[in-house]
Amino acid sequence: MKPERLVLANLPTRIEPLRCPDLKYLLYLKRDDQTGSEFAGNKIRKLEYAVKEALDQGCNTLITCGGIQSNHARATAAVAAKLGLSCHLFLRTDQRLHPQGNYLLDELLGATIHFISADDYRNHRQEKMEQLQAELTNGNNKAYIIPEGASNAIGTFGYYNALEEIVAQEKQLGITFDTIVCAVGSGGTYAGLVFANSHHQFGKTIIGVNICDSAEHFKQVTMGLRDGFTEYLGETFPLNDEELHLIDGNVGRGYALNTPDEMDFIRDFARKTGVIFDPVYTGKAMRGLYQAIQTDHPLIRKSKNILFIHTGGLYGLFPKAEEFKF
Ligand SMILES: Cc1ncc(COP(=O)(O)O)c(C=O)c1O
Repeated sequence: MKPERLVLANLPTRIEPLRCPDLKYLLYLKRDDQTGSEFAGNKIRKLEYAVKEALDQGCNTLITCGGIQSNHARATAAVAAKLGLSCHLFLRTDQRLHPQGNYLLDELLGATIHFISADDYRNHRQEKMEQLQAELTNGNNKAYIIPEGASNAIGTFGYYNALEEIVAQEKQLGITFDTIVCAVGSGGTYAGLVFANSHHQFGKTIIGVNICDSAEHFKQVTMGLRDGFTEYLGETFPLNDEELHLIDGNVGRGYALNTPDEMDFIRDFARKTGVIFDPVYTGKAMRGLYQAIQTDHPLIRKSKNILFIHTGGLYGLFPKAEEFKF
């Protein structure tokens, strides 16, 4: 049985056709960028489960972490402010920046911010979050740690649920999506879709486009999340490596770094379709899908109806304004 969740996001999100003049396919977009304003994007689906667990455990503080422009950190700050909880964010940065983009919103939403170097983030973030949790836990106060991207077993239910939502929408729309594509950053969105597909035997091809690390890394992350997930579910289901599909080769210069080509792609796509993607996740992922279609990639060669999940991230565009050429 699925764990209970809070109702925070605007669901179901719309599915709409994306008419792209230079593609032979008609793509469809699921607008998870419109799950809300302050908590826009994919993270809120995961937080509906993680924060419910925090409240059930009697916690009044949320602690989480991410890059300085983390969409997940901003969504957590928004949920905390909405529910009257305290929020502490460990944000990775090697240089102090003026508040802008998601970091500006974190400040506006009243989160307490702890800056952490890239090195400390890589090696010590869990330890630092646990240290803070111990300090904040006293009397009636209790803190709950949400890992990076809320990509833990409970968070994975967010996109397990989203695939069930998509299947219900297919019946209303009279369309079957044989292929579903999403950006992969910490892995929970992709894992949730894969788990729902396997558990319910929906028979879809779920494709992740990794925007950091390697395809192999995310196969391991997905397999690693499965045990915790099935423990919450109270049921198990078969899942083998062949069901895990990723389109590799789209990391570019690295996490949250862009090439001029990627920025041109986002600009040109916006002008052609009226849809704006973000530079860190969805822009790279849609570019990866776009190139895969143009080069007849074996994973999508047989696809008829492709649904791309727009997972949000638009606030991350603004700090990158100077990288666009107009
Ligand atoms: C806008 C956006 N899209 C996609 C992702 C990837 O999701 P996940 O971290 O679950 O892989 C993230 C977060 O990492 C994100 O913020």
